[in-house]
Amino acid sequence: MPLSRRQREILGEMGIPVWVRRDAPPVSLDPVADASAERPAPVDVRDVAALGWEDLRARVAVCVACAELASQRTQTVFGVGDPAADWLFIGEAPGAEEDRRGEPFVGPAGQLLDNMLTALALQRGTNVHIANILKCRPPGNRDPKPEEAEACRGFLDRQIALIRPRVIVALGRVAAQSLLGSSEPLGRLRGREHAYQGTPLVVTYHPAYLLRSPGEKAKAWQDLLRARSLVAGA
Ligand code: URA
Repeated sequence: MPLSRRQREILGEMGIPVWVRRDAPPVSLDPVADASAERPAPVDVRDVAALGWEDLRARVAVCVACAELASQRTQTVFGVGDPAADWLFIGEAPGAEEDRRGEPFVGPAGQLLDNMLTALALQRGTNVHIANILKCRPPGNRDPKPEEAEACRGFLDRQIALIRPRVIVALGRVAAQSLLGSSEPLGRLRGREHAYQGTPLVVTYHPAYLLRSPGEKAKAWQDLLRARSLVAGA
């Protein structure tokens, strides 16, 4: 498929050379969960396993399993996109802008993610779903704690079961380690075959890291191409 001008521009910005023929055409938790508990109670998967999208979203919106996060959030950030997407991107947790707007990846890192999608001829909402390990913003954007990730996992698992994506792209170390139950560094997790509950999983850099280290964008592009071949069933 020929690349659009915008796709070529984005690939150029990512440091990926693009050769174009001169004549080419343009291209439940229970809302009353014990808020004083030190360790958040994980979502009971049996409790959410039968929920459809609306009920799941409503359950997330009132979850207070992680009392510290729930008490400081503006709102939960459920996830966004095509409910039957082939592609599921999973980041770590909402930041300030996401907490304010209730949608994942809407800050600067999200703009880069959108550009990466454009480079793949994809767009947010069409065949793409975006979610996070956590539904609530950790204070000061600290890393999610393992017990918080565990507490939230039942919700994410239900989302994955409803979406049934062809590939999961784990964005960054926190998402990758959490989904894979690994403590290996991102550099060792990238470029390998993984699966999460039977769905192929590709590990790549977090867009926020790529903003700080644009020299790594070419490697991220290789990861995305691998994800694309998984979606295509190659
Ligand atoms: N970083 C993430 O990991 N997720 C978001 O939603 C925003 C920034």
